[in-house]
Amino acid sequence: MEPLAVTTSSKTRRESGAVEAARAAAEKLGVPFVEAVKGTPVETLLTRFKCVLVLRGDGVVLLDERGSARWSGGMADLRIHRLRTGIPQPDHLLLAGEVRAGDAVLDCTLGRGHDALVLEEAGAQVTGIEASLPLYAWASLGLSQRGSSVKCVHGDAGDVLRGLPAASFDVVCFDPMFSKRAHYEAGFALVRRHGEAAALTAETLAEARRVARRWVVVKAAPQARELRELGLEVVPFKRNAELRFGRLRA
Ligand SMILES: C[S@@+](CC[C@H](N)C(=O)[O-])C[C@H]1O[C@@H](n2cnc3c(N)ncnc32)[C@H](O)[C@@H]1O
Repeated sequence: MEPLAVTTSSKTRRESGAVEAARAAAEKLGVPFVEAVKGTPVETLLTRFKCVLVLRGDGVVLLDERGSARWSGGMADLRIHRLRTGIPQPDHLLLAGEVRAGDAVLDCTLGRGHDALVLEEAGAQVTGIEASLPLYAWASLGLSQRGSSVKCVHGDAGDVLRGLPAASFDVVCFDPMFSKRAHYEAGFALVRRHGEAAALTAETLAEARRVARRWVVVKAAPQARELRELGLEVVPFKRNAELRFGRLRA
């Protein structure tokens, strides 16, 4: 079974240019484009493809045999709202990385791009790496439809890091799948099903440290033991914080 196809909604009008845009997106991703047929549900494509990306007028939908979700800014929208309105609730990712406007930040676990959006809002130039093809396709098209300038790269973070010059990003961050997260909304369920689950290794962390100029930051669930096991300094945010951050000085 092929991993991914791109299609549009059968309601999409040809003359809107959306079909051509979807065809171009599929070509760029190196996956088949399948023209939508009126009266044929998009689900029928799941007999041939593990995932289908539907470019609809109202957003980018990722579909698999267990469900679907439209890409959205999710929790990033709330975090961005807090930053814009000056609500005195610190964003722990920005604090852990001491992220400043103008920083170059490498997000090694792009996922849906939510952290990347918050980093961008803080004035950073963000590059995000995503190993899973369907998640990369979903996030990169969702982010670009939103007008974000996050640069998305499809690949394994370890491989990409090895090819980068030393001290080429101010902050390098990771939010690996080892975190047992409480929130299970449809979008995150898709990330769980299709995300790269391999653990963050000491080798990849060492590469990240070489590439970073200030901090390597790793996000985890509060109960995660991995941060200390990887030799990271645990950032002392408040005890009941939903997430824990570890970091390594570059
Ligand atoms: C918990 S999610 C990250 C969510 C993201 N921080 C966000 O705000 O949307 C982890 C993501 O990292 C990706 N990932 C895990 N290991 C990776 C690796 N070695 N290289 C690139 N991506 C990786 C997974 O496929 C998954 O999409």
